[in-house]
Amino acid sequence: MSRSFITVTEELHDYVVAHGTPPGELELDLAAETQRATGRAAGMQIEPEYAALLTMLTRLVHARHAVEVGTFTGMSSLAIGRGLAEGGRLVCFDISDEYTSIARRFWQRAGLADKIELRLGPAVEGLAALPDEPYLDLAFIDADKESYGAYWDALVPRMRSGGMLVVDNVLWSGRVLDEHPKDASTASLIDFNAKAAADPRVDVVMLPFSDGVTLARKR
Ligand SMILES: C[S@@+](CC[C@H](N)C(=O)[O-])C[C@H]1O[C@@H](n2cnc3c(N)ncnc32)[C@H](O)[C@@H]1O
Repeated sequence: MSRSFITVTEELHDYVVAHGTPPGELELDLAAETQRATGRAAGMQIEPEYAALLTMLTRLVHARHAVEVGTFTGMSSLAIGRGLAEGGRLVCFDISDEYTSIARRFWQRAGLADKIELRLGPAVEGLAALPDEPYLDLAFIDADKESYGAYWDALVPRMRSGGMLVVDNVLWSGRVLDEHPKDASTASLIDFNAKAAADPRVDVVMLPFSDGVTLARKR
């Protein structure tokens, strides 16, 4: 079997970014506001090109029912919100009132406030309260890595056939290759990746994009 891949240098990465849909003014403002307000934590924010991917995926599945686990200051929710079909809604879960107060302001600015609902509190509990039926078109997982398995267990049965799960940070800066992981997040992601790949309910593609993104389509 042939193996075809390239190492993405910084220059090549800039080229990739320059040849996709550029971010809008709102996304640039949100990135700057997040940097100013959260400092080092701003590194948790998805990149503008990742936001463009999320909007595209949301449009591709014609999402009317979407869920996000891990909202932070709102970049990914803006991206999903923009891609929703007519009448669509996004339910967001996060534990931080402080971070999500920034997201709320940007939802207002984007004219998306009536399409996005924030549920504050541990996402495991929030997800358990969602309707127990396969109705979700799109789900994005980007919160505490130790709970990815639990989020998956809650979400996969609620995805409709053809629905898309998008999971962030699945390469964890390459630490998923550690044979003896030194921290709980790495160990959890290694277990999660094996679990997702072996799940017969979904087709899975892992993209070496950003910090690693798993796309899983419900069969
Ligand atoms: C990586 S950030 C999300 C980044 C966001 N998707 C974006 O595009 O900017 C992770 C978020 O998960 C939230 N979080 C951490 N543990 C959580 C939990 N148990 N339940 C819900 N949210 C949680 C954090 O407050 C943080 O805002």
